Amino acid sequence: MTTKSSISSGAHAADPLPYFVWSDSLFTGNEAIDADHRRLFDIAERLRRESLQAQDNAAIGNSVDELLDYVQGHFAREEALMAATNYPDLEHHRLEHTLLTRHVQKLTKSFRDEKPVASTQIWQFLRRWLRYHIMETDREMASYAAAVSLHHAGNKADSQADCLSK
Ligand SMILES: [Fe+2]
Repeated sequence: MTTKSSISSGAHAADPLPYFVWSDSLFTGNEAIDADHRRLFDIAERLRRESLQAQDNAAIGNSVDELLDYVQGHFAREEALMAATNYPDLEHHRLEHTLLTRHVQKLTKSFRDEKPVASTQIWQFLRRWLRYHIMETDREMASYAAAVSLHHAGNKADSQADCLSK
């Protein structure tokens, strides 16, 4: 039987400190993406706390499924934005998404198979990945999307001005 101590090896079960903490340095400037990221942090924080209190790995597997669902939906929204703006680095960005998705899928399976997983390592990895991906990869994409949208707004204003001057 899997016990609480086996799933939280290395973790501080009574640790009340928030771990996935949102900060202004994580804003990309795209309102929809930022809202998604904040929700992602909220879910990860709640799951981490649940995992510290969970009695068995299978229960954590269910919770990690929820994280996986949200991550996949969020990645799909980002990829749709990149496709809509003809983002030149779409393939590399998508590859980062694919690798993280595979990692979370593996974690879910490990929990379901009742394999002992060092939860501290999971959360450390996820937090590091999220911070890096948001601050580097997502921010570049958001800047590009903003520039494209500004360009389109400029073209629209120019054509309206042309119409008015005729
Ligand atoms: Fe992304």
